[in-house]
Amino acid sequence: MSSLVWNEKYSVNIREIDEQHKKLLALVGNLHQAMLQGKGKEALGKILDGLVAYTASHFAAEERLMKAHGYPEYEEHRVIHTKMTQKVLDVQKQYHQGKVNITLDTMKFLEDWVAKHIMGTDKKYGPFLNSKGVV
Ligand SMILES: [Fe+2]
Ligand SMILES: [Fe+2]
Repeated sequence: MSSLVWNEKYSVNIREIDEQHKKLLALVGNLHQAMLQGKGKEALGKILDGLVAYTASHFAAEERLMKAHGYPEYEEHRVIHTKMTQKVLDVQKQYHQGKVNITLDTMKFLEDWVAKHIMGTDKKYGPFLNSKGVV
């Protein structure tokens, strides 16, 4: 299984957000590569922590943008972010407690977690925000 790479199909047509999504995909990709290379628990843990932290700041940035422009699906989107955050915090916690390893299944989960959200949920605000002059 190859790791997730940026593709134009992920574009929400907002420059700043696309840049953030590229970074998010790159962080997931780094974790995938580090896992394949058999990096140690500490190294993997640091990458995972970086991914969790970047996710939080990205979700907050999206929420600010949606709220500032009165996006009608803001609340639903925010709830989805909260649930996603909970899932990744769970993985992080269990990893640091030594209860789980980073495996191909973990990577598959994280790759779906980010790709499906961009494709299914983030892409919906693109046209609305574009219509408010956000590009
Ligand atoms: Fe996003
Ligand atoms: Fe989002």
